Amino acid sequence: MTEEQMKSLIEAAITASRFAYAPYSNYVVGAALLATDGSVYGGCNIENAAYPVTICAERTALAKAVSEGQRDFVAIAVVTRDGGSPCGMCRQMLHELAPGVRVILADLEGVLHLDTTIDALLPHGFNSGSLRA
Ligand code: THU
Repeated sequence: MTEEQMKSLIEAAITASRFAYAPYSNYVVGAALLATDGSVYGGCNIENAAYPVTICAERTALAKAVSEGQRDFVAIAVVTRDGGSPCGMCRQMLHELAPGVRVILADLEGVLHLDTTIDALLPHGFNSGSLRA
């Protein structure tokens, strides 16, 4: 992944963040998931008055991609006002459906905060191996 590709993935996440529906937390999140074929899937957080119904930006992007047949991913960019880190649920879902994916955390101005991987964010993650008796 080139510097230019990383910048444009962060830009795609910023664009997705503009659609965030976050009236309860006011914490706007955008994500952009890059598949190996070059497709990019945007996602934002979508909150609900019944709080647990809320879906995070990362899982929105992942659900969009997987539901369109994508299973092979290069990187996900996530943007928040403070360059915040993905929650545990999102880490778990990325671990299973985007194994080894690069995770780029930036803020809403496009400043890079962390360039890491899902393996670093979720070491020793639970996976399907444990379910095979
Ligand atoms: N949120 C995300 O979209 N991604 C995360 O990984 C962390 C949290 C959202 C959920 C909720 O709408 C808001 O941020 C505050 O928790």
